[in-house]
Amino acid sequence: MAQDLKALAGCDYLSSADLDAARTRSLLRLAAGIKRGELRPQAPGRVLGLIFRKASTRTRVSFTVAMARLGGQTIDLNPQVTQVGRGEPVADTARVLSRYVDALAIRTFGHDELADYAHWATVPVINALTDLEHPCQALADYLTLQDAFGTDPDDLAGLTMAYVGDGNNVAHSLLLAGALLGVHVRIGCPEGFAPDATVLARAQTLAAGRCRLEVVHEPVAAVRGAQAVYTDVWASMGQEDEQQQRLQAFEGWCLNEELLAEADPRAIVLHCLPAHRGEEISAGAIEGSASRVFDQAENRLHVQQALLAAVLNVVD
Ligand code: CP
Ligand code: NVA
Repeated sequence: MAQDLKALAGCDYLSSADLDAARTRSLLRLAAGIKRGELRPQAPGRVLGLIFRKASTRTRVSFTVAMARLGGQTIDLNPQVTQVGRGEPVADTARVLSRYVDALAIRTFGHDELADYAHWATVPVINALTDLEHPCQALADYLTLQDAFGTDPDDLAGLTMAYVGDGNNVAHSLLLAGALLGVHVRIGCPEGFAPDATVLARAQTLAAGRCRLEVVHEPVAAVRGAQAVYTDVWASMGQEDEQQQRLQAFEGWCLNEELLAEADPRAIVLHCLPAHRGEEISAGAIEGSASRVFDQAENRLHVQQALLAAVLNVVD
C-alpha cells in the first residue's frame, strides 16, 4: 500500500483514470483505515486552496474538515471575492497560488479549465467536480459499496453497480473507477442521455475484460440483480435551462421502491446528493432501510483525507 501511495506524492487528481487499479485500491484501504481510526496521517501547517465556481455543501465542507483532521488548513478562494471571478488568467492565478498553498481543489464547469490549472500550478490540483467528472465522489461511492459487501477493495470485484439516470459527470467517474476496481457498471438512461463515448471507451480499456461496463435504455434491465442502485439529478449544475425538457425525457426513470425490488435483495441505494425527491428518487427509496446515502456523504471525508495525505506525501 505504502509504495502505491508514495507514487501519488505531488500528483494531480483530475480524473478517476489518473489512478491505476493498485493505487485506487491502496487509496481506499487508507481511507478505510482512517475511517476506522487506525491510521492518522498528519500534514501540519499545510494549506489547501478551494476554488469553487459552482455551489457545494459536501465537497466544500468535507475537504475543509479533511484538511483540519490532517492538522492543516483550508483557504476558501471564493471567485466572487478574489480576482478569479474578474477574469484573471488561469495561468497567472495558478502560478501565484502555487507560491502560497500546498494543493488546490477546484470545482468548475469545463474540464479544460481544470486541466489548465493543473498545467500551470506547481502544486497538486484535485478535481472537486467538473461537467465531465467527479472522481472524489466515485472514491466515496466505492468505499460505501465496500462497507456494505466486504472489508477490502478486493471484495468489490464482481459486484454490480447500477446507475439509473443521466449519463453525467458522476456516471463517468463511476464507470472509470468501477473499471479499475473490477466492478460491473450498468448505466441505465433514456436514449440521448448516455455517457460520453470517449469516457466509456476509456473505461472499457481500463477494465481490460475484468468486468462488464454496459449502457442500457430500460430501467429494469439496468438494475436487475445489482448490489447497488445509484442515481443523480436529471439536470446538473449548468443545465438549469433544460430542467423542464429533462423532466419529460426522464419520465419513468425514478429510482423508487418498485424499481429497487428488481435489484439484488441485499442492494443498497446510493445518491451523491443533493437529491430531488419525487424526481430522480422517491422519498421511500432515499429514506428506506437500503439507503446508504448519508454513509456515502460521510465517506467523502475519509477518501479525501486519504487523497490529500497521499498527494501531500504524508503517508508512511
Ligand atoms: N455530492 C456533492 O458533490 O455534493 P456537493 O455539491 O454539495 O459538494
Ligand atoms: N451531476 C451533479 C452532481 C452534483 C454533486 C451536478 O453536476 O450538478
